[in-house]
Amino acid sequence: MDNKIPRVSTFTDRIGGDGAAAWEIHVAANEAQARGEDVIILSVGDPDFSTPTPVINSAIDALNNGDTHYAATAGRTELRQAIADDFSKQSGLSTDVDNVFVFAGTQNALFAASLILLEHGDEVIALEPMYVSYESTLRLGGAKLVTVAQPADNGFRLDINLLKDAITPATRAIVITTPNNPTGVAMTLDELNAIAELAISHNLWVISDEIYTDIIFDGKHHSIAALPGMAERTVTINGLSKSHAMTGWRVGWTIAPKALAPHFDNLTLCMLYGIPGFIQQAALTALLHQRDASKEMRDKYRQRRDVVCSELAKADNLPLIKPQAAMYVMADIRAYGSSGTAFSRALYDATGVSVLDAGAFGPSAAGWIRISFTLGEDTLRAGCRRIVAFLQSQPTTM
Ligand SMILES: Cc1ncc(COP(=O)(O)O)c(C=O)c1O
Repeated sequence: MDNKIPRVSTFTDRIGGDGAAAWEIHVAANEAQARGEDVIILSVGDPDFSTPTPVINSAIDALNNGDTHYAATAGRTELRQAIADDFSKQSGLSTDVDNVFVFAGTQNALFAASLILLEHGDEVIALEPMYVSYESTLRLGGAKLVTVAQPADNGFRLDINLLKDAITPATRAIVITTPNNPTGVAMTLDELNAIAELAISHNLWVISDEIYTDIIFDGKHHSIAALPGMAERTVTINGLSKSHAMTGWRVGWTIAPKALAPHFDNLTLCMLYGIPGFIQQAALTALLHQRDASKEMRDKYRQRRDVVCSELAKADNLPLIKPQAAMYVMADIRAYGSSGTAFSRALYDATGVSVLDAGAFGPSAAGWIRISFTLGEDTLRAGCRRIVAFLQSQPTTM
């Protein structure tokens, strides 16, 4: 008999992205580190800080107290309230429990927003460079992804005319990331107002990924949802991965207009059934009692940013963008005439320093590398010195 298997859904075609090649060097560096080799991993966005001890202890206490059963699917009221209060305070937009749904990380929250807002026949505009998972996540419901450049020669900032030109009658949503990974750009109020004007005049949703809100060094974070006319058309996504060094806990959320609440509620039920109760208790502790720990981490990231920028400034022909926010420095390697992936491979092979080809985040960042500052200052200094020495050995096209 023919050993055929039934077909899988065409959905599977849309969830395979092609960002994988950029990660190969990172994977190789991790494996080398596990073998005890001398590598310096500057290719990852996972904070090296430990989750604050009180957060860990509240999960342990909750477990010891039997918090091991199903938890509220949309998130516990106290947690949703804490998220709402935090957002109200930070953005100035009055937000309550019914606006908030808890998901398993910001990534999962993006997935949920994408499923609820986008489908076949829709176009979704995302400003690139953008986080690598956006491509497949935004396309999963069948929408067509249209990327709009935030050009390198504009400091990777918004070019509103490019955005305007990309809008068609099929456009359903605009996706923004502020502050941005990989560029560290935090949008100004003027930039957000310009996007808001387009969203309102074309009746579009906005999905705003604000996961780096708490790691901003220069300037102030603004949430587009708080601008006039935007609360009813914006889904803000955020989480604790970066602010509290909690990547492995998988806590994120959506803040959405109440008209969407029944849909997010239904989706949490059929997709997730709630994140674990003991993790919700830990998240509550992080939000209510560990703001200072988060600020201390931000201050350390700022010092690290300054170390990386001043060390790399010693290289010839390596223009940098000093990031306003987040945990990455972007460096322009176009003077060395190779692609970001080829450059990163050669750098890793010669020095054991792994960085990421920023071209994986979109064509605007082709010819750039992303250097994470998620390690201590001494290691960062050593890594940067290896990069500078490597560059000195390389011919340039200039
Ligand atoms: C811009 C951006 N969005 C979302 C995520 C995913 O975050 P989480 O760990 O909360 O799923 C990341 C992780 O690096 C990110 O950089």
